[in-house]
Amino acid sequence: MKVSLYISFSIYVLLHLFHPHHCAAVSNLAPQSSASPHFNYTLNTFYLNGQPFQIIGGQMDPQRIPHQYWRQRLNKARSMGLNTIFSYVYWNLLEPRPGEWTTAKPDNDIAQYFKIAQEEGLHVVLRPGPYICGEREWGGFPAWLSTIPGLEVRTNNTLFMSYAKRYLEKLLAELQPLQATRGGPILMVQVENEYGSYGDNHNYTASLRDILRRNLDPGTILYTNDGGVQFTLDGGNVPGTLAEIDGDPSSGFQAREKYITDQSELGPLLDGEYYTLAPDQWGSNATHNDPDGDQDTIDGFVKDLDFVLGGNNSISLYMFHGGTNFGFGNGGIWRPENYLAAFTTSYDYGAPLDESGRTTSLYYTLRGVIRKYSPEGSIPDVVPDVPRSSIADFSLHPIGDLFDSLPKPTYSIKPITMESLNQAYGFILYEATSNASYSGILQPGDRPRDRVLVYVNGEKQGVIDSIYESPAKINVSLHAGDKLQLLAENLGRVDYWSLESGTENELLQPWKGIMGDVVIGDAVLEGWDIYPLPLDPPPSTKQLKKRESIQEGSREKRNRRALSQTPIFYSGKFRTPSSQSSSVGDTLDGTIAAMGLDTFLSILNGTKGVVWINGFNLGRYWIIGPQQSLYLPGVLLNKEKDGWNEVLVLELEPEDGKVMVGRGLAEREWGNAPDPDAP
Ligand SMILES: *[C@@H]1O[C@H](CO)[C@@H](O)[C@H](O)[C@H]1NC(C)=O
Ligand SMILES: *[C@@H]1O[C@H](CO)[C@@H](O)[C@H](O)[C@H]1NC(C)=O
Ligand SMILES: *[C@@H]1O[C@H](CO)[C@@H](O)[C@H](O)[C@H]1NC(C)=O
Ligand SMILES: *[C@@H]1O[C@H](CO)[C@@H](O)[C@H](O)[C@H]1NC(C)=O
Ligand SMILES: *[C@@H]1O[C@H](CO)[C@@H](O)[C@H](O)[C@H]1NC(C)=O
Ligand SMILES: *[C@@H]1O[C@H](CO)[C@@H](O)[C@H](O)[C@H]1NC(C)=O
Ligand SMILES: *[C@@H]1O[C@H](CO)[C@@H](O)[C@H](O)[C@H]1NC(C)=O
Ligand SMILES: *[C@@H]1O[C@H](CO)[C@@H](O)[C@H](O)[C@H]1NC(C)=O
Repeated sequence: MKVSLYISFSIYVLLHLFHPHHCAAVSNLAPQSSASPHFNYTLNTFYLNGQPFQIIGGQMDPQRIPHQYWRQRLNKARSMGLNTIFSYVYWNLLEPRPGEWTTAKPDNDIAQYFKIAQEEGLHVVLRPGPYICGEREWGGFPAWLSTIPGLEVRTNNTLFMSYAKRYLEKLLAELQPLQATRGGPILMVQVENEYGSYGDNHNYTASLRDILRRNLDPGTILYTNDGGVQFTLDGGNVPGTLAEIDGDPSSGFQAREKYITDQSELGPLLDGEYYTLAPDQWGSNATHNDPDGDQDTIDGFVKDLDFVLGGNNSISLYMFHGGTNFGFGNGGIWRPENYLAAFTTSYDYGAPLDESGRTTSLYYTLRGVIRKYSPEGSIPDVVPDVPRSSIADFSLHPIGDLFDSLPKPTYSIKPITMESLNQAYGFILYEATSNASYSGILQPGDRPRDRVLVYVNGEKQGVIDSIYESPAKINVSLHAGDKLQLLAENLGRVDYWSLESGTENELLQPWKGIMGDVVIGDAVLEGWDIYPLPLDPPPSTKQLKKRESIQEGSREKRNRRALSQTPIFYSGKFRTPSSQSSSVGDTLDGTIAAMGLDTFLSILNGTKGVVWINGFNLGRYWIIGPQQSLYLPGVLLNKEKDGWNEVLVLELEPEDGKVMVGRGLAEREWGNAPDPDAP
């Protein structure tokens, strides 16, 4: 019973995230007097300034959205009728290396985001983790945590807690002035995240509660958010902390009433993650989650929203606006069969506000429901969406081979992981020269981590990838002097796993690259040159071209070029489309339009790779879909009218004579193509 509940719950849990909004109207929330708004609750009701207050919330995470759009999307949240925004904070982006703190970067300035939320008439619920799940890289943990001997995440482990405490203290020091108790927007703060789905170490969650308590005003409410079934509530509840649920509100509220008995955890009911749909995963059989036209699903949303709001309870839509896993930001999950599902670059989620910040029909449907429960005239009008632009086809020219732009290698007898080279994301190349003849099935360490491209003397032998239930078995023949190259791609660390789930614990061991011996038949290969390839930043066009000319004429180079089977960088450019901001007028969205119009960038003929625009990593593309184009925010474009934009593409699986073309779409298309590498 417990196991089956767990499995269905874990699948359920994967179905979250959401989208924001923007609009220029004046806040219609309860007027903010000069006195601090006072937020508190009795057993059944939240009160804001002494008036009953229903949280009508939605999730939107600032770190999936270029900061220039925060206001626009928060504004659209308010004009859908939301009064509160819920946000996760991603520790891995705030502290990319131990002690390095990045909130000075505008895209990581969480305090600024919350200030804008308040200006747009929204309250805030802060969800700082340290673990956040969220279909994010390792649930928001920085990869470097995995390199500290003796550290165990999500326990009251001294080392883990010292880093978690330092992170929370730094973050909260910046957010303290924004608590509602001091006139700011922050009403509540979450302790951990769905911890009951993972374990039941109450000492750990109590330690986190105490850290938050020490760094927040007494009037800032702490809460937990767990699946609405007994074992998750049992594991996740924390004394002195309001216990809330997520998922199905009807069964969840009943479970909360039934299983939470500690008076210090009781209060008004909040469905803290009501799933507006689900994130997408890569796969030639995986389809885009989209509620449009799915009347049963939409009717279900309407019914549940009516149920919660009509019962005077509170809710947060997960997601209101999802945004984008730019760069290498996505997470993954282990499926029960122990293979990896990697989340797409798009985190559209099928949410009411789509990936590019445009309203959907679901947006208006939910707005209609929320109106019924909001004071007459309190919901601002919706500012019209900004048009998107298309970009005419432009060619992409090969400018260099990834394997010709390698950094200095580290030599090791046995393969070592990406993390042990202090590398968090991207690719890593393992290269060995054979001493003798070997042939047989290649085993790239304990298992593929995650996608391993195999080359012998520059010739591609195949792809071994953990997204397949049975990864390919590649038979390799090596003779003395032959060079074996294994290019491992980190497809994103698993963000959701449970201590109960048996087998391997990916949350504790998220290592990438190669772990364990590389074996051919029964021979162990030793003596490796290991090249970290975080591609952050990628090699510049200049560097690539220079290497090309230096190596012109080298035999190995000519061989490789003739085969064209190792990854190749392509470059291309297009002009910024002239802005049509005049049609939108002097509104918030007019301001957005003036920053450059969005498009969806497709790499025609691309199999799998990464795209940078003017140096910014837009993320991964993959022909298998369902995502077939990358969201290209207008703010990344060269601001000069008719200015040029540089596109750099790393195509991992080039083919001889293949013509690579870039194209910008005003209306995106989702779809799948057969997987050329499926085993
Ligand atoms: C909540 O705050 C109001 C002031 O806004 C106060 O009058 C009331 O006693 C408080 N209620 C609780 C349960 O703390
Ligand atoms: C929690 O702490 C108590 C007292 O400090 C200790 O007895 C217990 O073993 C701890 N439990 C866990 C799971 O660490
Ligand atoms: C957590 O661990 C620390 C020692 O690392 C200990 O001092 C503290 O009491 C523990 N907290 C709880 C609630 O058990
Ligand atoms: C995809 O779907 C087809 C048709 O339903 C099926 O034959 C095939 O095995 C599926 N492939 C994967 C990788 O699930
Ligand atoms: C919700 O609150 C309103 C206003 O206080 C009250 O009239 C209504 O009966 C309540 N509804 C429920 C289901 O408790
Ligand atoms: C691998 O290929 C070699 C040479 O083509 C062949 O002799 C051998 O049987 C193959 N091994 C397996 C396990 O398929
Ligand atoms: C080749 O031989 C050298 C010297 O014995 C050894 O250090 C190296 O690990 C061997 N390489 C492989 C790929 O087995
Ligand atoms: C590549 O894309 C273009 C444009 O869609 C197409 O005309 C061409 O046939 C494609 N295939 C190859 C192998 O270049």
